[in-house]
Amino acid sequence: MATLRLLLTVAGLVSAASDVSWQSLQEGLTAWEAFGFDTSFSYSVTRDNRSLFQYPASHDPTTLAWSDGAVQIFIAGAKSDLLRNVTVPVVMAIFKGKDPSLTTGEKSVSRDELLEEGGGVTLPALLAARGVSPQHPQPGWPLIQRALDLWAAMGWDKSFTFNVGTRNGTVFTYTKGTTDMNRRLPGASLSKWPATLTIAGLVADGTMSFDDKANKYLDWWSKDPSDPRSNITLRHLLTFQSGYTSDPRVLCQYNPFANFLKCAETLYKSAKISSPPGKTWSYISIHLQLAAAMAVSASGLAPDVIFQRYLYQPLGMNGTSWFPKKNPMMAAGIVTTGADFEKMLNKMLSYEFLGQKVLSEMEEDWSAPVSPCGDGWFGHYGMGHWFDCMGYGSGQAKGSSAQLSQWCADEKIQAGPGAFGFFPLIDRKRGYYMQIVLKEDSKCRSEIPEYLRILAKPLVDAILEKRSATERELFEGRGALILREVYDIYKSLPPRCWPLGEQIQI
Ligand SMILES: *[C@@H]1O[C@H](CO)[C@@H](O)[C@H](O)[C@H]1NC(C)=O
Ligand SMILES: *[C@@H]1O[C@H](CO)[C@@H](O)[C@H](O)[C@H]1NC(C)=O
Ligand SMILES: *[C@@H]1O[C@H](CO)[C@@H](O)[C@H](O)[C@H]1NC(C)=O
Ligand SMILES: *[C@@H]1O[C@H](CO)[C@@H](O)[C@H](O)[C@H]1NC(C)=O
Ligand SMILES: *[C@@H]1O[C@H](CO)[C@@H](O)[C@H](O)[C@H]1NC(C)=O
Repeated sequence: MATLRLLLTVAGLVSAASDVSWQSLQEGLTAWEAFGFDTSFSYSVTRDNRSLFQYPASHDPTTLAWSDGAVQIFIAGAKSDLLRNVTVPVVMAIFKGKDPSLTTGEKSVSRDELLEEGGGVTLPALLAARGVSPQHPQPGWPLIQRALDLWAAMGWDKSFTFNVGTRNGTVFTYTKGTTDMNRRLPGASLSKWPATLTIAGLVADGTMSFDDKANKYLDWWSKDPSDPRSNITLRHLLTFQSGYTSDPRVLCQYNPFANFLKCAETLYKSAKISSPPGKTWSYISIHLQLAAAMAVSASGLAPDVIFQRYLYQPLGMNGTSWFPKKNPMMAAGIVTTGADFEKMLNKMLSYEFLGQKVLSEMEEDWSAPVSPCGDGWFGHYGMGHWFDCMGYGSGQAKGSSAQLSQWCADEKIQAGPGAFGFFPLIDRKRGYYMQIVLKEDSKCRSEIPEYLRILAKPLVDAILEKRSATERELFEGRGALILREVYDIYKSLPPRCWPLGEQIQI
C-alpha cells in the first residue's frame, strides 16, 4: 500500500511536550512488526512540519517541542488500513495528554473508548493480518478453529483446549497440543469458583445461611460486639469483603498433616483486620479458608468429604482434587480437568446444581458498593468469581473502584480464571458456557488466554445464533485487542516473559 498521509484535527491538544509519552506507540509498533502484521513499514507523526515520533526511531522524539497546529501521521508500507485504524485513536489520546500504555486510572485510555473509534484488532482481522483468509471455508466454528490454529502457530498458547457448550452439552471442543479435556491441571485461583460453590452447597441444603456469622460455628471467633470481626458473615467471606486485606504467613497452611480447623484458627489469630466487614474488597485467600472452616464446623465433615459430597459427587467430577488433601488450600489448591469443569458449568447453566435461587444470589455484582470493587481488569466480584467486565478500570479516575459500564452490567457474564491461564465463563443471557483449558508454564507466565477470551466471545455469541458477526458487532461485543494489549502479548512471550514464582493468588 502506498504511503498513507493523514491530517488529523485533534480537539483539546496539550501543548507541553513534557506531558506526552510516545512509549505506548513505540511499544505497540514493535509488537506489531514482531508479529508480522506489517513488516518493513515506517510510521511518523509530525506537527507543524516537526517530527514528533518516528518508527523505526532515528532519534528520541520526546525531546522535541512543538506548538499548536496541524498534526500529521505518515504510514508507509502497511499491507492494509488496519495499522491506521488501531493506532490513530492512540495518537489522538497521546495528544490529549493521556498515556495509552496504562491500564487503569485517569491518565489511561479506556478500552471501550478506543474500540468505539475502531482502534482494535478482531479475530478475523488478526487472521487477515497474518495472511489467513477468515472467510474460508465457511463462517462459524471453522473460523474459530482457524483462529486457534493461528493462536498456536504464533506461540501465543501452545497446548490448550477451547470448549463451548449449552445446557444440552458440548457444542464445540478443539484441542491444540497435549492439553485436552482430560488432562489434569493445577488451576491456582481457578479454585475460587468451585470452592465457593462447594461451600454454597451447605447453604442450598439448609446447613448454613449466607448471613450466618462466623462466630455461630467457630467457638474461637470473637463474639465481642466492639470487635468488627464479630460481625463477619459467610456472605462477607464469599464476596471477599470480610475486611481482611492481606494474607498472613501461616506455616500450617502448607503442612499437609496439619488439622484444618486448628490451622484456620491460627490463621484467624494471625490476621489483622483493616476495615469493618462489607466496606472493602480484597483478592486474597483467607476469606475462603475461613468460610470453609465455617462449613467444616457446621457440618462436622472433613474438608475432603465436603468436596466429595457437595461438588465432585453431584457433578460427577471424577478428575478433580484439592491439595493438600486433608488441609486443602481452598483458594488455590485445585487440580482438575476441562471435562470436570465442563460438567460444573453445564449443570450450573441448567441450575441442576445448587438451584436457581442460590446461584442467582452468587452471581450478583456484590462489590459495586465497596471500594475497590475489583482489580480494575477482570471485573467486579460475585461470590468466588468475577462479574466479568474486562478492562473496566481503564480510562477511569477511580480505577479499580470504578462502576461497571451499563453494557457489562447487562451482559452479566460470570468468569473464574486462574493464574495459570485457565479461563471458564458462563453467559447467562445467551445460555452457554465457554472455557479455555490450559496450564501455562509457570516459568513463563503470560495471561495471554484472557485475550483469547476477549476476541472469541462475541464470535461465539454469533455462531451459537447461527449467523456470522460483522466487524461492527465484534467491536460492540468488545471483541478486539487494542494496541497496548498487542504489546502485552509480545511482552509476555519468551524470552521476555516473567516467572510466576511463589505467588499463586490470582
Ligand atoms: C510545512 O511545509 C510545507 C512545505 O514543506 C509548507 O508549505 C507549509 O507551510 C509548512 N507548514 C507549516 C505549518 O509550517
Ligand atoms: C479500518 O476501519 C475502516 C472504517 O471503520 C473499515 O471500513 C475497515 O474495514 C478497517 N480496516 C480493517 C483492516 O479492519
Ligand atoms: C436443547 O435441546 C432441546 C431439545 O432437543 C431444544 O429444544 C433446545 O433448543 C436446546 N437448547 C439449547 C440451548 O441448545
Ligand atoms: C456490628 O454490627 C452492628 C449491627 O450492624 C453494629 O451496630 C456494630 O457497630 C458493629 N460492630 C462493629 C465493631 O463494627
Ligand atoms: C469420569 O466420568 C466420565 C463420564 O462422565 C467417564 O467417561 C470417565 O471415564 C471417567 N473418568 C475416570 C477417570 O473415571
